[in-house]
Formats: sequence, C-alpha cells, structure tokens
Amino acid sequence: MFLVPLRDLKVIGDDRVSAVGMGTWGLGGYERPDRSRDGEIVDVLRHGIKIGLNLIDTAEFYGAGHSEELVGRAISEFDREELFIVSKVWPTHFGYRSAKKAARASARRLGTYVDLYLLHWPGTHWREIEETLHALEDLVDEGIIRYVGVSNFDTGLLRRSQEAMRRHEIVANEVKYSLRDRWPEDSGLLDYMKRENIALIAYTPLEKGSLARNPCLSEIGGRYGRTSAQVALNYMIWEDNVVAIPKAGRKEHVEENAGAMGWRLSYEDREKARRCV
Ligand SMILES: NC(=O)c1ccc[n+]([C@@H]2O[C@H](COP(=O)([O-])OP(=O)(O)OC[C@H]3O[C@@H](n4cnc5c(N)ncnc54)[C@H](OP(=O)(O)O)[C@@H]3O)[C@@H](O)[C@H]2O)c1
Repeated sequence: MFLVPLRDLKVIGDDRVSAVGMGTWGLGGYERPDRSRDGEIVDVLRHGIKIGLNLIDTAEFYGAGHSEELVGRAISEFDREELFIVSKVWPTHFGYRSAKKAARASARRLGTYVDLYLLHWPGTHWREIEETLHALEDLVDEGIIRYVGVSNFDTGLLRRSQEAMRRHEIVANEVKYSLRDRWPEDSGLLDYMKRENIALIAYTPLEKGSLARNPCLSEIGGRYGRTSAQVALNYMIWEDNVVAIPKAGRKEHVEENAGAMGWRLSYEDREKARRCV
C-alpha cells in the first residue's frame, strides 16, 4: 500500500508519516455536519490512503464531529497501524475532565484510538491548558491517544507546555505555514522545533488553493515537470521536520498533492519560490 519514497516519510513521535497528508476542514461540513457528499468524501480519503497518504488531520470541531465520522468510515477498510490519525480538542472542552471526555468522544466517532491529539488553539487561561495537557498524558496511558501535541502555539507557549509535561513529550505543533505566510521561519518557531525534534504540521499550505494558481510557481515547477501546487507543498516538506496537510475534496487534487513528494526543489529555486508570492 505504501508508495511514498523513504525520504518523504517523516517522523512524528516514533512513527513514520507521509510528508503530505490530508486535511479535512470542510469535508463533512464546517461548524455543522453536512452529509450531502459523504460517499464521495469517503472515496476521496480512501484514494489518498491507497496512494500512500497515511496522515489524516481532523478535529472534533470539524462539522461538529462529522469529519471524524467520515475519517472513521474511510479508514475502516485499511490496516489501522499503517495510518496516523490526528484530531484535536477545542478550547471549550479544555480542563481535565472535559478534555478526557472530548477525546473519548473523538475516538468513538473515529471508531479507533487517536494517534496524535492536539490542543486546537491556546485558549485563554494557562491553568486550563496545563490541566488539558495532563489529561492528554493520562489518555496516552489509557490507550485512547498515542501522542500529545498542540496547535497554534508560539515558541513561548510551546516551551511552557513542554515544561508542564510530566511523563510524555509534545511531539508536534500544527500551525499555519505556507509559502505566503512564513511566520514560523520569521519568528524562530521552526528553528526551535527542529532543535527540539518536534514535528511542524503545516496547515493551509496552499492558502486555500490560491498557491495552486500562481504563474511564477508554475514556471519554477515546469523545470521539474511539476505544478504550482506541487512546488508550494515541496517548499514546505523540504524541511526534515515539516509535513503539510492540504485539504482536497477531489481525487485529482489528492493525486496532484501527493506528487509534491519524491523530488526536491533546488536551493536556488526554493529562494525564487519565496519571491513568487
Ligand atoms: N489546526 C488548525 O487550527 C487548523 C486551521 C486551519 C486548517 N487546518 C487543517 O489544515 C487543512 C488544510 O488547510 P485549509 O483547508 O485551510 O487550506 P488549504 O489546504 O491550503 O486549501 C484547501 C483548498 O485548496 C484546494 N486544493 C487542494 N489541492 C489542490 C490542488 N492540487 N490544486 C488546486 N486546488 C487545490 C481545495 O479544493 P478542493 O476541496 O476542491 O480539492 C480547497 O479549496 C484543513 O483542512 C485542516 O485539516 C488546521
């Protein structure tokens, strides 16, 4: 099943994941469930898995849980151990008891354990973040989740969260990162995470599809027989600890995104790509 070249299998915790994964925001609804395309979405996700995308990102917030249900349906026919499922707890469910309840509900909707469970946003009170991190450590011990991570955390908050952990480590931080929005590079977050061996999961890596239609990136891609979207994604996964999770609701987009793996932009073209956006 697994067709991804070795160098595009990245490390999260002790696991190997494809450098390009699949995001699911909007697949199955945004703030509310939308069941109108369920069959089609399950097919698209299954297609992605078949061509080697083993990292799937979802959240309790997406479609008010329906995205998790669709991911659960999609993965049910595959070898679970080959897949890496990410989900997230929304800040309204922060706190020890609420976070544990939310994780169990996510696992129920997915029909399986969660590989990586993230605090979706920092929320407002440190105490709640700390309690939630401790709940996630207990959930690891109980086998509901396998790894603990955060999302949308800056360097200071990430470091503070690392210090709050008692038995497990924070293995990933999911943040917005694209060729157009390179704040993790500019702020020093990416370098910090490299030093700490923390995976950066880059969300909105195509800037909602607009980086798939950039003539300057297309021109660079032409030299490699690749498209604008593939250049935009290759830029991200060039870094050892970065994986990208574009959302694609169509099989042809999933395939195109998978084609961002298996090759590398030259250093010079990477610099040029920065100037395209
Ligand atoms: N942790 C967080 O706070 C957070 C926040 C935002 C997003 N995320 C995660 O990150 C994922 C990705 O981010 P995103 O959905 O905001 O934006 P994105 O992946 O940058 O863009 C998605 C859009 O790009 C289009 N697209 C995908 N592949 C394409 C291709 N090869 N050519 C042309 N268009 C293409 C999709 O169209 P089609 O659907 O028609 O294929 C969709 O309209 C989300 O789905 C979610 O899982 C996490």
